[in-house]
Amino acid sequence: MSEYLAAPPEPSQQAALVELFLDGSLTPFATYHPPAVFSLDTRTLEDGPHTLQIRATDTLGKVGRRSIAFTVQNGPGITLTGLREGSLVGGTVEVAVNAFGGEEPFDPHRAESLATVPVWVWVMCSLVVLWAAWYAIEFFPTPQQFANTATYAANPAALAAQPAPAGANAPPAFSGKGSAGGFDYAASGATVFTANCASCHGAGGTGVPGVFPPLVNDPVVTAKDPAQHVTILLKGLQGKAIGGKPYSGQMPSFPQLSDADIAAVIDHERTSWGNQAPIVTPDAVKQARGH
Ligand code: HEC
Repeated sequence: MSEYLAAPPEPSQQAALVELFLDGSLTPFATYHPPAVFSLDTRTLEDGPHTLQIRATDTLGKVGRRSIAFTVQNGPGITLTGLREGSLVGGTVEVAVNAFGGEEPFDPHRAESLATVPVWVWVMCSLVVLWAAWYAIEFFPTPQQFANTATYAANPAALAAQPAPAGANAPPAFSGKGSAGGFDYAASGATVFTANCASCHGAGGTGVPGVFPPLVNDPVVTAKDPAQHVTILLKGLQGKAIGGKPYSGQMPSFPQLSDADIAAVIDHERTSWGNQAPIVTPDAVKQARGH
């Protein structure tokens, strides 16, 4: 304060005396000539609300007053859980109380105090759980556009469930009579068979012993990989012993049939008379023709 007192402004405009009072006391605890700087040691005061009153008197004897309310807290802070200001309660109420030291600058104990989980946290958690459930439902059966990516190709369930796209080597699994990969082989398969194959292999695929081999349970017809089946239709077959038996007859080639007809008749054989083998698509036949 003394530095201010060393060079006081024009005395005529300035208050001559400043008195400080605390909490309505009638005797000032300090008296200064303005302007003044003083330090108030709150540690001498009790925690709680206080009032500082300032009374200034100018050179003409006029008095001005100012009063400032403030709250002192030097003791520990208090947090409370379970009871709020103005809450309506009944029965037994569980209340958790924590006190943290005023000497610590960041009030670290406040974070350790018990507190109820805020509603927004519940909402965020529920959203995460809902999203996870949606994700599981949506992606557990591998979506078709991902089925043959590096991530899912190794998953046999995904491969079996999805028809192979054009050019893929994996043949579609047996899926009962009907259609696969958008290709309806059941519609034309039987007709193509009756027109081109039944004369030799028989309407029921039983063949003629020693002359035309049966297609029921035939190793080529029931092979997982239909490649050989396709080749035999495109190129024909002669002089092959099937199941240890030689056949004198000759299997003609059928390059004149369309890709769809060849696929349909192959699939008809692969899914008829108890045969349950993977089927082919017209695209696979088209590819085989190129070789
Ligand atoms: C002219 C009589 C004849 C006709 C028509 C015929 N096949 Fe054959 N097929 C044979 C003979 C004979 C063999 C056995 C050839 C051999 O063992 O070398 C054979 C063999 C096969 C085989 C191979 C079996 C194996 O294990 O290697 C398949 C598959 C087959 N025929 C399917 C068909 C289909 C499909 C058609 C109609 C599009 C058809 N055949 C029409 C006579 C015929």
